[in-house]
Amino acid sequence: MDENEKIRQYIYIVQASLEPSKCKIGKTNDLDRRLKEYNNMTGKSKENIYQYLFTCEVANMAVVEYDIKEKFGYLREEKSREIYFYNSALFEDYVEFIKWHKLFIKERFIKADEKKEMVKIVKKTTPSLEESGFSFRDIMKKAQKVDNDEFYTRYEDVEKEVSMYDKEVWEDKCVFCNCDDAVDTNERKSSAFSLYFMRNFKELGLKKLICTHYGGGADIFNQGSKGYVFRYEFTSEGFKEFKESPKGYTGSFDEPLSLKILNEEADIVCTNPPFSKAIEYWKIVIESGKKFLIISNVTNTINTAYIHYFKNNKVWAGYNEVYWYLNPKKELTRAAGNWFTNFPIKDRPRYKNLKIMQIKEIPDKYKKHDDIGTLLVDNNYIPSDYIEPFAVSVNSIVSGLLEKGYKIAQDKRYTPYIDGKEKFARVLVQKIK
Ligand SMILES: C[S@@+](CC[C@H](N)C(=O)[O-])C[C@H]1O[C@@H](n2cnc3c(N)ncnc32)[C@H](O)[C@@H]1O
Repeated sequence: MDENEKIRQYIYIVQASLEPSKCKIGKTNDLDRRLKEYNNMTGKSKENIYQYLFTCEVANMAVVEYDIKEKFGYLREEKSREIYFYNSALFEDYVEFIKWHKLFIKERFIKADEKKEMVKIVKKTTPSLEESGFSFRDIMKKAQKVDNDEFYTRYEDVEKEVSMYDKEVWEDKCVFCNCDDAVDTNERKSSAFSLYFMRNFKELGLKKLICTHYGGGADIFNQGSKGYVFRYEFTSEGFKEFKESPKGYTGSFDEPLSLKILNEEADIVCTNPPFSKAIEYWKIVIESGKKFLIISNVTNTINTAYIHYFKNNKVWAGYNEVYWYLNPKKELTRAAGNWFTNFPIKDRPRYKNLKIMQIKEIPDKYKKHDDIGTLLVDNNYIPSDYIEPFAVSVNSIVSGLLEKGYKIAQDKRYTPYIDGKEKFARVLVQKIK
């Protein structure tokens, strides 16, 4: 080794072949020697071979190492300060952070990334409605027929919605993900919700994260048929995680243990519950009085089982729609979902979709009367000078019409007929006098 080599400073990520869910991030002046030390440590266990996943040169290894601990402290394995959880997505985060660090000099080695494909699929930019060749109406029709509960939410959709809310909303709160939000150090076995809240625990200032795995379903996260409760929290001794599988616990959101957590520990409920059990789910969550941010079928806004919640201001649309999910084969799959919440929405961006104007200004093709004389408006045209109830579609409700001086006029779905033919279902609204 020459003199120059000795004074060089390196940050490395190393992993033992028998411990694929962890990695060590450390510093050294001599990469070769350090790796030998690791492999000598394993002693007789020759199969447990340490290999570098990433190495790079930095200007001050102590500072970079310290900053890594600061940034990813919440991803450290409980007992050891330098051992971090590993999966391909986290690995990308670690490497990205190091490479963007101001003291980074140059990369020396990075492993061939065989898992990248999976991350690419999860993070793939979703085609727009136009690109996909589907109209809003096509998606709505599909949504009304959805019987497949086994859709994963994409990480980017959780991130996009959660980041819209003020940070204070999350501060010192216990988030409860209660519909199969499985947790694992391998992101293939985690839901996007659990992964997101674990990764952003510190940034959001959370107090606790509780996720339950439902053992009775199709096991889309490959977590087995035993329900469990996963708790992740910050204590005086640092981050702690704890998984328990009480006897007979299935992980169902309506089980006594899940309800106890909901009522006694949770501050905010956040998940994508099964579409088929949404009526029961909404009832339980809304009646608990807790804050919530959940994904559900966008047609709930015009479905008799839910209309009263919108009418009584118990729930409203969140910021974003969610049209793309991953099926158990990790393929992009369409379904018309939307975020729903009871958190305040600031300057709802979708207000701009609403075209509120005098009825005479609404183009004829977007206003008609049905067989019993009810006014139907389409394409988000809303009459500002019409005092009778009129029928609108889902789109107007999720665009915030009920926050613009209109109320729901009837507690049940409105199905119009024109010339005896059934038309697309709607909800009756009326201008507030
Ligand atoms: C639409 S998937 C969403 C999964 C995950 N929350 C996500 O967003 O990726 C609904 C999940 O709820 C699970 N599930 C079904 N019935 C349940 C119940 N009674 N309690 C809790 N989870 C349930 C299903 O197995 C499925 O994993």
